[in-house]
Parts: sequence; C-alpha cells; structure tokens
Amino acid sequence: MKISVIGAGNVGATCAEVLAHHEIANEVVLLDIKENLAEGKALDIWQSSPINMYDTRVIGTTNDYTKTASSDIVIITSGLPRKPGMSRDDLISTNAKIVKSVTESVIKHSPDTIIIVVSNPLDVMTYCAYIHSKLPSSKVFGMAGILDTARYKAFLATELNVSPKDIQAVLMGGHGDTMVPLPRYTTVGGIPVTELIDENRLNSIIERTKKGGGEIVNLLGTSAWYAPGSAAAQMAEAIVRDQKRVFPVCAWLEGQYGLNKVYMGVPVILGKNGIEKIIELQLNDEEMKLVKLSAAAVKEVMDVLDKLDY
Ligand code: LAC
Repeated sequence: MKISVIGAGNVGATCAEVLAHHEIANEVVLLDIKENLAEGKALDIWQSSPINMYDTRVIGTTNDYTKTASSDIVIITSGLPRKPGMSRDDLISTNAKIVKSVTESVIKHSPDTIIIVVSNPLDVMTYCAYIHSKLPSSKVFGMAGILDTARYKAFLATELNVSPKDIQAVLMGGHGDTMVPLPRYTTVGGIPVTELIDENRLNSIIERTKKGGGEIVNLLGTSAWYAPGSAAAQMAEAIVRDQKRVFPVCAWLEGQYGLNKVYMGVPVILGKNGIEKIIELQLNDEEMKLVKLSAAAVKEVMDVLDKLDY
C-alpha cells in the first residue's frame, strides 16, 4: 500500500506522520513544491520510526510526481491556508489553480488512485479535483465531516466531562459556517445527547462548532493542522483496511437528499473502493431546510469555480 500526501505544510506533514505512526501504508510519499521542505519533514518523521516503533517508509520529494507513481491513495492538502478575517471561500482562485495542476500531475502517475481532498474551500476544491481527475465520484471525495464532528464531539466531551470516545454524532452540509450538526443523531454512550444537556448549552456548542476552524485561525493566525491531518489519515485507514467505516464525507450527490450535482458532507460507508454507499437519513423538515441552505451556499461557490479561468 502506498499513500502520497501532496503539500508538506502543517496539515500534510501531520497527516504523513499519523499515516506512518499507525502503519496505515507501507510507503508514504510527501511532496511539496518548496525546495527541500518535504524531504526535511519526511526525514524527521522517518527518524521517529525507531522511537515510535513503525516500519512505514516515509520519503519526501520536491515536486517529483514520478515518486508518487502507483499510489493507492493520494491526499491533496496543497494550497494557501486562511488568515484571520478570511473565509475559506476567499481562497478559491489561488487554490483552484493549485488543486487543478496537482490533480493532473497525480493522475498522470496514478491513474486509478483514490483522491482525498483537504484543500479549502473544501467542497469546491473536491469538485475541482473531481473535474480534472476524471475519476468516478466514488474515488474523489473530501475531508471535512470527520474534522467538524471531531470538534463538536470534543466540545461536548469537555462540557459533559465524558470521554470523547463515547460520543457519536453526524454532521452534514458544506465545510463552512452553514454546516449542519444534527443533535437528533448525537449520542453519548448510546444516550441521546438531549437527555444530558439543556438546549441552550447544546445550541452554543453547535454554533461554536460551525465556527471551529475560524476559532483556531484567530488563535494561531493560520488554519488548524492536528485534527485535519489526523482526520484525513483516518479516512485513508478506512480505505486501506477496508473497514466500511461510517463517516461524514464530502461526496458528490446525484439525487440523494433531493440534491443534484453538488459536493457536500453526507454520511457514507468508506471501504477499499472509496465511497461504497451514501447513507440517506430520514431528516425532518427543519434539518432538511438547513441542509438545503448549506448545499445552496456550496453551489454558489461551485458556480464561481465553473466561471473561473484557471
Ligand atoms: C479548518 C480548516 C482546515 O476547518 O478548514 O480548520
């Protein structure tokens, strides 16, 4: 099993480290356009192998896509991160150029790979990789839902003073402020969350979750990396080990939830073939309204991409 991670910035390097540390692949290739960045980070990660006791080979390269040849999975993290005051959508024209060129180079050397997109604006960059890879949509999807639900679960774990391991949750919609956490599908050790927390507290956690990425940008002056990197690695693990895990993933919808030709977060089953099934929840009217609003927000930015000359 070979996984390539494109972009050796904070997210890419963290993802490569988690992939290696958990022995999710035999070989991890880290690639960046910046001279020596990927080589240096890959070497540092590889030097942790005798300490952390793994044998996954980690190599770095400056933009040499031949090194990524025959990857089973490619994780695209390339692109500019957000600065304070920017929305993810502000990154579209710069990152579309980057994601397009990365996707084309990836496909040249790994025509049958599965692509996981992490670049922002997430839903639209996933669409960009889908268009330019010409792969089936079951093999091109984005990482956002695992990160957003992780934030929601972490906030709930703190609030309720319980283990984050015992919180189960689904979150739908785009990776932006219109994302839709679903309290009706949130449990703590099997107990509906609404039995453990009052409505106001829960609502404020939902609002904090929606702005979870921005909270980190404001603290650090750049976007998050530990949780995003780990989330992308967890998706790769589900594919490599054919785990059939149920995760919210940014997927191409063709009729599900009454939505057509839009990339957006929905629960799916992830296994060796990529997205093996999109799960259609029985949403109530209020939930469906929020999901449709979120889809419309994503679609607006997809339209910007469609009209962009890049
Ligand atoms: C975030 C960025 C990675 O949500 O989109 O932190």
